[in-house]
Amino acid sequence: MKKEISITDRPERFTDEYLRACGNMSWYDFVAGMPSLVFVVTGWKSNGKENACLQSWAAFVGGSVENFICILGKVDKGGHMYRSLKETKVCVINFPSNDIYDRCIKTIGNNGFDTDEISAAGLTAEPAVKVNAPRIKECFLNIECELLWEHDLFEGSGEATVALKAVNICMDDAYYDQNKLGRYGKNGYLFQIDQPVNPETGETQGFGPGILEQGDPVPWITK
Ligand SMILES: Cc1cc2nc3c(=O)[nH]c(=O)nc-3n(C[C@H](O)[C@H](O)[C@H](O)COP(=O)(O)O)c2cc1C
Repeated sequence: MKKEISITDRPERFTDEYLRACGNMSWYDFVAGMPSLVFVVTGWKSNGKENACLQSWAAFVGGSVENFICILGKVDKGGHMYRSLKETKVCVINFPSNDIYDRCIKTIGNNGFDTDEISAAGLTAEPAVKVNAPRIKECFLNIECELLWEHDLFEGSGEATVALKAVNICMDDAYYDQNKLGRYGKNGYLFQIDQPVNPETGETQGFGPGILEQGDPVPWITK
């Protein structure tokens, strides 16, 4: 049976403070439990140190033959990544597989302004080819980007939606073929899922980083 779920009437545990501490989340993040790709955005800080920021909640869209646009849904305007992007106008979007996710998480605890965050997390920085930014060697896919535009998420928000134009892609050739490492499954893209809850009781279920499995093929009959 389908039920209506209010954005205001929530289980006690989901206080405003708790949702803010979770990363400025909405109660509906937990209700919907939407998966979204996980990646690390890298760039140079103004002191020449590497910045690395785990991100999610993004869309990747081809808008014309030469326009592949990466839309970062919510970027904290108080963070280093936003500042570095505003200063340099470029960055790299790096996609990790599950075997290096433990190191990617360490970018959060090694987030000091004076820290080389890629190296401090046990990852390797290498120069991007088309933009002036570092990229992560161990990530199987790197998208080098230029800043296009930004817009506040809503009026007065401390977070912005940011659009980036891809100018170069670097990909590990072992991932070209799904019969080798492949972009999907256990070796491929990772998805963040924010602890799906039972919206009535507030009970949460743990969920590790998600992976994409192929569904059963459906005949493409549209009429
Ligand atoms: C899986 C995951 C996804 C995240 N996604 C975002 C995001 O989309 N936007 C954001 O501003 N912070 C996000 N964060 C939090 C940032 O990674 C974290 O605040 C980081 O330390 C900020 O780095 P910075 O100071 O270099 O900007 C995410 C964290 C995790 C663990």
